[in-house]
Amino acid sequence: MTSIRKETQAANIVIFGGNGDLAWRKLIPAFYNLYISGFLPKNFAIYGVHYQEMSEKDFEKHLLEGVNTFSRTGKAKPKQWKTFAKSLFYFKGDFTEEKTFEGLSTVLSNNDKTWKTRGVRLFYYSVSPRFIQPISLMLAKYEMANNVGLDRVVIEKPFGSDLATAKDLNRLLTTHFQEKQIFRIDHYLGKETVQNLMAFRFANIVFESIWNHNYIEHVQITVAENIGVGGRGNYYESAGALKDMIQNHLFQLLCVAAMEPPLSLDAEEVRNKKADVLKAVRPLTKSDIRKHVLRGQYGEGKLNGKKQLAYRQEKNVDPKSTTETFVALKLYIDNWRWQNVPFYLRTGKCMSKTTSLIVIQFKKVPHNLFGSRIMPDHRPNQLIISIQPEMETTLLFHAKEPGVQLHIKPVEMDFTYKESYDAPVPEAYETLLLDILEGDAALFMRADQVEEAWKVVTPILEAWKNDSAIRFPNYEPGSWGPSSAQQLIKPEGCNWTLLPENGILKKTMKQR
Ligand code: BG6
Repeated sequence: MTSIRKETQAANIVIFGGNGDLAWRKLIPAFYNLYISGFLPKNFAIYGVHYQEMSEKDFEKHLLEGVNTFSRTGKAKPKQWKTFAKSLFYFKGDFTEEKTFEGLSTVLSNNDKTWKTRGVRLFYYSVSPRFIQPISLMLAKYEMANNVGLDRVVIEKPFGSDLATAKDLNRLLTTHFQEKQIFRIDHYLGKETVQNLMAFRFANIVFESIWNHNYIEHVQITVAENIGVGGRGNYYESAGALKDMIQNHLFQLLCVAAMEPPLSLDAEEVRNKKADVLKAVRPLTKSDIRKHVLRGQYGEGKLNGKKQLAYRQEKNVDPKSTTETFVALKLYIDNWRWQNVPFYLRTGKCMSKTTSLIVIQFKKVPHNLFGSRIMPDHRPNQLIISIQPEMETTLLFHAKEPGVQLHIKPVEMDFTYKESYDAPVPEAYETLLLDILEGDAALFMRADQVEEAWKVVTPILEAWKNDSAIRFPNYEPGSWGPSSAQQLIKPEGCNWTLLPENGILKKTMKQR
């Protein structure tokens, strides 16, 4: 979100769980790319903290493998890696032991002395939620994050597991740190196309003036993944699609799509407007949940031509699990702009394809001048914003086909990143990590926003807890979830929409 990047003088970066998967796949490749693009300060040090014994050399080798495998810029160039790796350190230490923090504290202070400046301190909690408390306590005890202007803690999702636990967590963190030091990360907000949605909405008059209940019939938000839970069964059993995706990633997309125009890009202002969206979500009654919140779990079948295990057969998953791998729901936002406009959200694993879309479906014209002979396809205008993987925005409208007879057909107007820009697109974590180093919290969730999100989903969790009637599995891998998901949207006379393919009007998706 930052418009002009500030120059950070020096930074001590501490990754608790520095030997883990997130650091390997995302954090270190992102820091490396920031480094080679010249965005890291001259003086910086990255410490991976973990309780296991590991030599500095093995740690570096492991991280290099991660960069070579996952970096968007491909394999690391040996010279660049060598200089970057001089700032990488392995720090063996238990997150619950005082000596870990005593040692770290000394190391960070020594760096400040060498650099002759008190550097920024970024403490990344890439750890299981149970370690958030001991780490915070120790950071406070050893006064390691006492400089409110320079020290930041970064918390990954899941942020709590319901409203009560999220409140506890907020209470714990705000006991030790000030709110402006706490960066609750949701990587969807760092995605280039999600940031662009703000530009699309607020830098253009044409869309903003019709962005309301007068012109919009409904909004769809889809985040579908063409993979199963794989090796993450252990985590996923305690999450499920509602907590893993809806409460955070899809709600972030909802907020950006539905927020009022902020007065400025100031972090508090942007976050106020986003929190307002969640505050305005019409509370779901038990009956709404029964009718308008659908869940699914994938069974055994084929995905991309290969055998796909049922969710219940995945590693570390209970063979009788009732954890959902698919959710579709309908929400209303009770404010002036969105009165009675349904918002349909869906997400699932083992879907037919990987795609994240926001679809704005406009109302039909009030008077149909052209009969069905002239205009057989009378679909409404749609704006389809592909967050990933296509990264394009398509506007569907109607036009006369050339010829002596009057014939009207839908056509599309596309904006694609591929055709419009040569510049590479940074990974979400690059943007977000740089924002943290610069202390810009606009793309991070504030305590109240997280709690508002939990307020919406906690009644669903409670209703599901008391409902043993659910029959899983109820959808096949490679499909679009249970057939009931289609019924959710059908009463509006609509279908879930996909991005048109091959430059022709891409078909509205047919459900099983
Ligand atoms: C993570 C979820 O937060 O986001 C995963 O835990 C999910 O289950 C992932 O696969 C999706 O992220 P992306 O960036 O690949 O769409």
